[in-house]
Amino acid sequence: MKFFIDTANLAQIAEANDLGILDGVTTNPSLMAKEGIKGTDAIMNHYKTICEMVDGDVSAEVFGTDFDSIIAEGQKLAAIHPNIVVKVPMIKAGVKAIKWFTENNIRTNCTLVFSAGQAILAAKAGATYLSPFLGRIDDSGWDGMMLIEQIRAIYDIQGYQTEILAASIRSPNHIISAAEAGADVCTCPLDSILGLLKHPLTDIGLAKFLEDAKKTEL
Ligand code: E4P
Repeated sequence: MKFFIDTANLAQIAEANDLGILDGVTTNPSLMAKEGIKGTDAIMNHYKTICEMVDGDVSAEVFGTDFDSIIAEGQKLAAIHPNIVVKVPMIKAGVKAIKWFTENNIRTNCTLVFSAGQAILAAKAGATYLSPFLGRIDDSGWDGMMLIEQIRAIYDIQGYQTEILAASIRSPNHIISAAEAGADVCTCPLDSILGLLKHPLTDIGLAKFLEDAKKTEL
């Protein structure tokens, strides 16, 4: 499973990249706004900076919701760097745009996915990545991981090549369950990635080893 970081924060991207396990970055309008990035030029420059920092795919989301503006924005975003993947919402104009981008060799990430039916449409349109929002499904009282399992089964039976990108991750356990359910990619906040490191027995064991190591000193 590939690891993406789900943020537009450059310090967090640098920290995850420094671990040596980072395969890419996802952003969305909310994450860009959180960093105070405003205006087209600033947004484009921010994506360029991220692409220069990380050797992997960087999802850049369109703001438009009609076919023409999605296409115009997506073309501009894709021209920033070869690693840019245009993130398109799962709406009627979005599906049509994903098909257009596929035919024009521009890679896409279909976002705001909450059902297997949406996953089938995105795959038929040729989306490179599909982003089911696990955390938001869990927040609404449903089981996000069941959706990943269902999409995995459908994609395998049908031979769809679209990669399942588990998104809206809230915890280290989400990452583990997404891996178990067969997600191709998991995009995670830095805290959830670092949470995978933690185990009390590791800390206790290391403290004992360090204590005993002192006894071996001359
Ligand atoms: C990433 O592609 C999504 O936009 C993101 O994971 C959504 O996460 P959230 O539900 O925590 O906002």
